[in-house]
Amino acid sequence: MKRYDLRSDTFTLPSEPMRKAMYEAEVGDDVYGEDPTVNRLQEMVEEITGKESSLIISSGCMGNLIPMMIKGGRGKEILTSAYSHIVRHEIGAVSSIAATLPVIVPSDMGIMKAEDVEASIHGYSYDMSETAMIETENTTSGIVYPLDELKRIKDVAERHGLWVHMDGARIFNASVETGVSVKEYAATADDITFCLSKGLGAPALSVLSSDSGFIEEARRCKKILGGGMRQTGILAAAGIWALEHNVERLRKDHEHRALISKALEAAPWAEVRISATNMIFFSSPYDIQKIIDAMARRGMMMLADGGMGRIVLSLNISDEDAEEVARLIGTIDEGELR
Ligand SMILES: Cc1ncc(COP(=O)(O)O)c(C=O)c1O
Repeated sequence: MKRYDLRSDTFTLPSEPMRKAMYEAEVGDDVYGEDPTVNRLQEMVEEITGKESSLIISSGCMGNLIPMMIKGGRGKEILTSAYSHIVRHEIGAVSSIAATLPVIVPSDMGIMKAEDVEASIHGYSYDMSETAMIETENTTSGIVYPLDELKRIKDVAERHGLWVHMDGARIFNASVETGVSVKEYAATADDITFCLSKGLGAPALSVLSSDSGFIEEARRCKKILGGGMRQTGILAAAGIWALEHNVERLRKDHEHRALISKALEAAPWAEVRISATNMIFFSSPYDIQKIIDAMARRGMMMLADGGMGRIVLSLNISDEDAEEVARLIGTIDEGELR
C-alpha cells in the first residue's frame, strides 16, 4: 500500500540533487567562521531578510531560545499568544532556560492585535517583571499574520522600546501565499528566525537574522547551548539548494491543502477549523484517534494536535498523491468511526 505522509513538513527527505550539493560542499571549521558554504548561506539569508547579519543554528527551537536569552532573562517578560510554539511545543525552555516569563496576549488562533499587545505592556515596578519583548509567529498554525497588524505591533514595540522577535519557521509559506516578501515581513521584527528543514526540505538547520551586535551575542549563546558545529557546510549546502529550488514549490503544498480541505469539508465526520497555507486542522464529533486509525488503514499518516486532527502538506505529496488523498478521505464512512 502506498503511504502518504501528512504528519508534518519536517518529514521531508533530502532529494538526490540536494544530496549531491551536500557531497560537493566546500567546508571548514564554522566555529571559527571558516566554513565557506556556511558563510555563503548566511550571506544569502541576509539578502533575503534585509538584515545586517545572520547565523545558522541547529533548529527552530534554538532560533526562538537565543533571542529570549539575549533580550529576555530573569525578571523579564515576553508577550506571545497561547498558540505559539514557544508556549506549546518547546518544553518550557522560555522559562527553564531563557528564564523569561511568557505572558499570553489574547489572540484569534495565534494572531494578536496591536491594541491587545499594547494593553499587556508594563514598565518597571518594584514587584513586577518587566515587559522586554514581543513575539510574533508567522505562519502560526498555518495562518499568515496580516502585514498591517505586524506593522502596528512593531509601532507599539518602538513606542515602548521593546524588541520584536519573529518566529518565521514557515515565513516562506507566508510569502508565497501573499506575495509579501520575506524582507517586508522581517522589517516588522528586530530579529527573525526561519527553518530550512521544514517545507523547504533540507535535513537540518534554521537561521537567525538581525543586526550584527545581536548576532555576535547570538553566536555566544549558540555555543553555550552546545550548538557550535564544525564542518557544517555539508548541511548549509542543503539549505542553499533548498532556498534556490524549493521556495516556489511551496505553492504546490498550498494547492494540495485546498484540495484536501475540500474533501474534508464534504466529509460528515470532520469540521475544518483552520485551512491555511500548508496546514489543515479539523475537529470531529468522533474520537480523533479513530480517524487517525481509519486514515492509516488507507495509507495516510496524520497526527492529532490540540484535540484536533492535523494534516500538513509538504514535498512528500505530489499532485497525484493529493488527488488520491482527497479521494481516500471520501471513502471513510461514519460507521467506521463509531
Ligand atoms: C512555528 C514553529 N516554530 C519553531 C519550531 C521549532 O523547530 P525545530 O523543530 O526545528 O526545533 C517549529 C517546529 O515545528 C514550529 O512549527
